[in-house]
Amino acid sequence: MPKLTIEQLDLRGKRVFVRADLNTPLVQGQVSDDTRLRAVLPTIQLALKAGAAVVLASHLGRPKGKPSPESSLRPVALRLEALLGRPVELAPDCVGPETEARARALRPGEVLLLENLRFHPEEEANDDGFARRLAGLADCYVDDAFAAAHRAHASIAAITKHLQPAAAGVLMQQELAALGRILGAPARPLVAILGGAKVSDKLALVEHLLERVDALLIGGGMAFTFLLALGHAVGRSLVEPDRVETARAALEKARRCGARIVLPVDALVAPDLESPTGRAVGIREIPADQTGLDIGPRTVAGFATALRGARTIIWNGPMGVFEKPPFAGGTLAVARAVAESGAFSVIGGGDTIAAVAQAGVTDRIGYISTAGGAFLEFLEGRRLPGVEALTEAPA
Ligand code: 3PG
Repeated sequence: MPKLTIEQLDLRGKRVFVRADLNTPLVQGQVSDDTRLRAVLPTIQLALKAGAAVVLASHLGRPKGKPSPESSLRPVALRLEALLGRPVELAPDCVGPETEARARALRPGEVLLLENLRFHPEEEANDDGFARRLAGLADCYVDDAFAAAHRAHASIAAITKHLQPAAAGVLMQQELAALGRILGAPARPLVAILGGAKVSDKLALVEHLLERVDALLIGGGMAFTFLLALGHAVGRSLVEPDRVETARAALEKARRCGARIVLPVDALVAPDLESPTGRAVGIREIPADQTGLDIGPRTVAGFATALRGARTIIWNGPMGVFEKPPFAGGTLAVARAVAESGAFSVIGGGDTIAAVAQAGVTDRIGYISTAGGAFLEFLEGRRLPGVEALTEAPA
């Protein structure tokens, strides 16, 4: 169902509640990566230009329902101020008389950032009374927090019962369009690349993608559970024995769906993570005392061939222990192959984003999602509370 968008709202003279995901890493009290802040600027700027005042709200970290200075949004307010080029006032809390007074006093063109929503346990409990108090701060609601859309929290779900209409912000629309293109009618062949350590985190995704993709390339620690399911000895590589059966079932399903699962044919092995180098061995020759820590050169070549023929690519998860330089090569090579493929590519997840940045190919990726968990849940085909709660667009 198409959702109402911020562009369809009449915002002149209104106070608009913008739920954003400003959950950014902080280092020594300063924002160390402002990607998510930059991503929400178009929505804020659009609202201000249309003559609205903005009540901006977000969570930061997991402060467990209690105020804590290290999870304050103050550093975020400062960085937003610099990015927007206008004052961003930080409210002392997200609810309460003082915050209400400040919200009431807002004039068109002004921005008030509420303090961390998760300082109140009612936020994560999707509490109705708390949602009503948040709703009382504004005249209409815009959700631009795609990265938190998998959370049925008060500022995302319950608030929309009290504050209507509930429209999608610019970033929310972009994310839904890019990810929807993958699950909808992608240009084919559609090739997915999955990696990361744990197969258990990705099995639901594998299941869902198999019904849609032409090929699924699997690397990273999660590949070893699939290799074990095929009867390979994997030495001391990471495996989840209780998932071997599910991995085998996924291999079966791939055959039924006509989707090709491509597994590593070689690996870079070493005694442990602290080893200064790895040695490439065939996947049938992993010594019993060695651990596979990256995909090997023959696998890189095979993956690159599959990617060259793709017209749409989706990628989540590194191909090896990417944070250790001796084992980053496979992931960086895949990043370059995605960039060079000419396909429309969509990537998500912190490690994957870091990999394309490190490979110097960020600007050659079709779409980089700001979401982690929500990105995966969307691609698993799950309904996201933050999307469900939005008002339907008029016919
Ligand atoms: C994220 O960073 O993925 C979102 O902000 C959600 O954070 P959470 O996992 O703490 O709910």
